[in-house]
Amino acid sequence: MAPDLRESWLIGPVEVPTRVVLAPMAGVSVQAFRRQGRRYGAGLVCSEMVSCAGIEHRNERTLYYLRVVADEHPLAIQIFGSDPAAMAEAARMVEAAGADIVDMNFGCPVKKVTKTGAGAHLLEDAELACRITDAVASSVSVPVTVKMRRGVENGSRACLELGPRLVEAGAAALTLHPRSSKQMYTGYADHTLTAELVELVDVPVIASGDVTSRAKAQAVLEATGAEAVMVGRGAQGNPWALREILDSDSAEPSREEVAAELIVFIRETVRELGERRASGFLKKFYGWYLGHGRFPKPFKNELVQLSSTEEVVTRLLAAAPAAAELVERLEAELPDPDDEILLEGMPISIYGGG
Ligand SMILES: Cc1cc2nc3c(=O)[nH]c(=O)nc-3n(C[C@H](O)[C@H](O)[C@H](O)COP(=O)(O)O)c2cc1C
Repeated sequence: MAPDLRESWLIGPVEVPTRVVLAPMAGVSVQAFRRQGRRYGAGLVCSEMVSCAGIEHRNERTLYYLRVVADEHPLAIQIFGSDPAAMAEAARMVEAAGADIVDMNFGCPVKKVTKTGAGAHLLEDAELACRITDAVASSVSVPVTVKMRRGVENGSRACLELGPRLVEAGAAALTLHPRSSKQMYTGYADHTLTAELVELVDVPVIASGDVTSRAKAQAVLEATGAEAVMVGRGAQGNPWALREILDSDSAEPSREEVAAELIVFIRETVRELGERRASGFLKKFYGWYLGHGRFPKPFKNELVQLSSTEEVVTRLLAAAPAAAELVERLEAELPDPDDEILLEGMPISIYGGG
């Protein structure tokens, strides 16, 4: 029987309401993305990777990543680093910020990260990976999870040796993206390794990689015995992919729905990052939202040329006037800004822009 994607499951004591997890993605997983993912049925959302050194030095930009709002829960905040004590301190900050789970990145293939001993480097340094996991798990009371790749080299099976050791050191769940870090995003995610990992550990395993449809999600869950699937690129500018994965009878969004979600996303992101940063950050989302044959390509090119996000919103409303009413409805459902947890010493409130 096909697994029920709407079934809840547990990471430690944290109840995750569906078997679909929204992937952490640097440059993508802003708060607006995570909240939207929750609205479309993701049972768990995750921040992008946050530098533990940035947290340790109270770097203003880094601390922005630790802002949590009421409708994100359950939420994991992901940290990366190579120093067990600094990671433990960062984890305490993450817990204080209101995250339900501390996730650790043991899979980032980017050289800037691996050369510091963090990310995918830890796949080849099991001893350090376990010391970090132990230090972090001992320093917080929320569950600590690890996201990893299969290994560094192509064909590596390092994750199968490391996974059980991480669980012994305190990991309450493991996410596996079974590509090597050398592969980056080429080839395909070999979920036969996910199935092997599931057999080796007694904590939930989340399968990440190439899950873009309901059929793929069910096939991966069935073939691997994983507790949940994680969706990354498939959900970029496309929350409807989450809905399609979760519901057998979901429909393609109308143009008005697409325009309305994009407008809310733009406004939320401007509130989060400030107009200057948001206008550059958002450009890649225009193509993601408006693609899939939803709007003609020249329209996207036109939006990218506009200099302010307000002009983009005006242009979207002109192209899909009925979106205005949907925007109003969506914005009315957003939680009260007072529900937000702010860490003492945070630079500004999320609703204060920046
Ligand atoms: C733009 C981008 C940024 C990413 N950033 C992170 C990150 O910060 N932390 C992490 O653990 N994985 C990161 N990943 C990996 C994804 O979480 C996921 O494992 C990978 O994309 C495979 O899943 P997919 O095929 O559903 O995209 C990133 C992927 C992309 C495409």
